[in-house]
Amino acid sequence: DDDHLALTPPMGFNNWNSTHCRAEFNEAMVKGMADLFVEKGLKAAGYEYINLDDCWALPARDAEGKLVPDPKRFPHGIKAVADYVHDKGLKFGIYTSAGIKTCDVLGFPGGLGHEYSDAQQFADWGVDYLKYDNCNNLGVDAKKRYTTMREALKATGRPILYSICEWGENKPWEWANGVGHAWRTTGDISDSWDSMVSIMKENLALDEYAGPGGWNDPDMLEVGNGGMTDTEYRTHFSMWSIMAAPLLIGSDLRTAPQSAFDILSNEEVIAVDQDRLGKQGKVVSSEDGRWVVAKELADGGRAVALFNESDRPQRISTTARAVGLPQAAGYRVRDLWEHSDAHTAGKVAATVPAHGTVLVRVSLDRGWAQLPPAVASGADGR
Ligand code: DGJ
Repeated sequence: DDDHLALTPPMGFNNWNSTHCRAEFNEAMVKGMADLFVEKGLKAAGYEYINLDDCWALPARDAEGKLVPDPKRFPHGIKAVADYVHDKGLKFGIYTSAGIKTCDVLGFPGGLGHEYSDAQQFADWGVDYLKYDNCNNLGVDAKKRYTTMREALKATGRPILYSICEWGENKPWEWANGVGHAWRTTGDISDSWDSMVSIMKENLALDEYAGPGGWNDPDMLEVGNGGMTDTEYRTHFSMWSIMAAPLLIGSDLRTAPQSAFDILSNEEVIAVDQDRLGKQGKVVSSEDGRWVVAKELADGGRAVALFNESDRPQRISTTARAVGLPQAAGYRVRDLWEHSDAHTAGKVAATVPAHGTVLVRVSLDRGWAQLPPAVASGADGR
């Protein structure tokens, strides 16, 4: 879009992956996450939006047709929560569906046919981000449904980042750029290695459609939810970043382990996601579970992910030329998890543990002679 709302992929939190509709999705959680964003440095690292997902409303609208916040979860209403989030210098997001009801079996009201009044109600509450789901859509054309809400959001006059949650059903990458700022490319992620990898592969094929203002969305992060190892969560976060995906934390950081913070707050990895050139990484090669993905960066360098899908350690190897860099006497290789530098004459390689990813930044190296020739555990030039 041309409104500068998502020149880089959106970053923040959404409760869905950790709570679904359970009772712990409530005002205390949302406020607690806003507190942690500030206290734990996540705000400083770029995380900005605190977003609600399904089940925040009561099943019935009021007599005027307005949405009613569930008083058990949000006893002070939604505006009070939005104000709290704004007072922390953060932004606030909400959810509804481009259908007559949302997805949960309890059937909360959806936005179809109520776009203008619901959008105005959100704007009145101070909403800065809308996730618009796809359930109970009565078969109405997707582009039409999502465009009507885009027009309704515009009519409020409030800048609202618009996230299209259409699950890739009608190839949104072909029509949603200019309608919303991001579009889901797949079905729902779950907190397992197989789910994460299959979604990653679907999204990797769509690199040409992403760019500043309009992003492929392979769904929210599971880091910290406990269903994967830390090695696998580092792969998840590395690959979402090299795909320039929205980075929406999906774990309850009030109870998540320290390792989740360490992964989610790696600013060198975040910088790959947030690079202002806005390119999604492209697959360079993928033989035998040895994936090489490269993302062009604004400084002329490349982020390179060496991702080992297999169940055994493997040597993964590429070259500076193969990832798109010009011929040069030497290159600098910065390991973004080890935070260490090495130099190479051209080869970029590492022994990568099962399910692991070595993520590096490769650039032309002017002072390469001063750098060590290799790092034992991370990326090297051998
Ligand atoms: C389906 C979406 O894809 C999920 O992300 C989540 O919003 C649920 N619906 C909520 O019901």
